[in-house]
Amino acid sequence: MAPSVAEVTQPTDTLANGVAKINLKEVKADKGPSYPFYYPYFDVNEKFPPTEIFEHKDAGLRADPKKPNLLKEGTIVKHISPFLGTEISGVQLSQLSKEGLDELALYVAERKVVAFRNQDFKDIGPDRQIEIAKHFGPIQRHPTSGNVKGYPEFHVVYRDAENDQFREYIGGNRVDRTSWHSDISYEKQPPSTTFFFILDQPDVGGDTFFASQVEAYNRLSPEFQKLLLPLRAVHSAVAQAEHSRQRGGPVRREPVESVHPIVRVHPVTGEKALYVNKGFTRRIVGLKDEESDLILHFLFDHIAKGVDFQIRATYEPGTVVVWDNRVTIHSASGDFDNSFRRHAVRLTPQAEVPIPATEP
Ligand SMILES: [Fe+2]
Repeated sequence: MAPSVAEVTQPTDTLANGVAKINLKEVKADKGPSYPFYYPYFDVNEKFPPTEIFEHKDAGLRADPKKPNLLKEGTIVKHISPFLGTEISGVQLSQLSKEGLDELALYVAERKVVAFRNQDFKDIGPDRQIEIAKHFGPIQRHPTSGNVKGYPEFHVVYRDAENDQFREYIGGNRVDRTSWHSDISYEKQPPSTTFFFILDQPDVGGDTFFASQVEAYNRLSPEFQKLLLPLRAVHSAVAQAEHSRQRGGPVRREPVESVHPIVRVHPVTGEKALYVNKGFTRRIVGLKDEESDLILHFLFDHIAKGVDFQIRATYEPGTVVVWDNRVTIHSASGDFDNSFRRHAVRLTPQAEVPIPATEP
């Protein structure tokens, strides 16, 4: 397979004031996905056994803090915000040694989101892609999303003129299209160093918003932090499974619910982070409904409003974004016309059972 990058439609019109008009609708003849191998595959008969608990040793614990195998001479590093987000050029993820991958785990834990430009990752084939991501933990096989035939490790994100499940899932009667979540937080062992590579993308838009859950925690008063420390919350896969069932999609494994600490500690950096997200966190254990709603709504609102501890990760052909799901939440940006195709693939290694914070 030697797919080529989709042609980019350049703005050709100008407004009366001479400013270039951006193309907001796809007008070129559609040649289909650039990477048809990764077209989402849904087999309602595909079934997985329940996930088993495993021992996790974080790759970041093995890393040289100076990162000599990752950030070599010639690497261009551009931070997006003091709290999270870095763009890197001059590193080829597919060429990293085991030591380099360990350092990647540490670097991503520290910076929380890293966009690697000009990667050959999308062209190295599924087996090698999986091999790299497996360095960080066993890869989750998603219970409901599109995967790749024969490769259930891939979680496929796909939208085009005929397929708009994203808008369907977040709800069509909304004033905005944000949907903050931490991936698959309902698993007993939720994910860590997560890979997301882009195959087709609109000319403008389709970024991913990220927020630092570490900074979100740090902004709280010491008294409120103390109040949260002993609390645990239920994260549920039920609504996601129900949505898939309703639209005739697969439920490959019965939905699970897990109880996680509201404040968790990163096993490598020791940073404390809020671990709640609107996508999957349902209620706080031991509280009455109104009490639980009050605290969760405040936290969801606090995180969503905190644009000073959020970034937009942008995509170019060849971009691979790697983030640490334990200390961030994210949302797709539904800001592009659905005549554009957006096609991306996620590999989601699972990590430790969340470690509760015991002091502010
Ligand atoms: Fe996600």
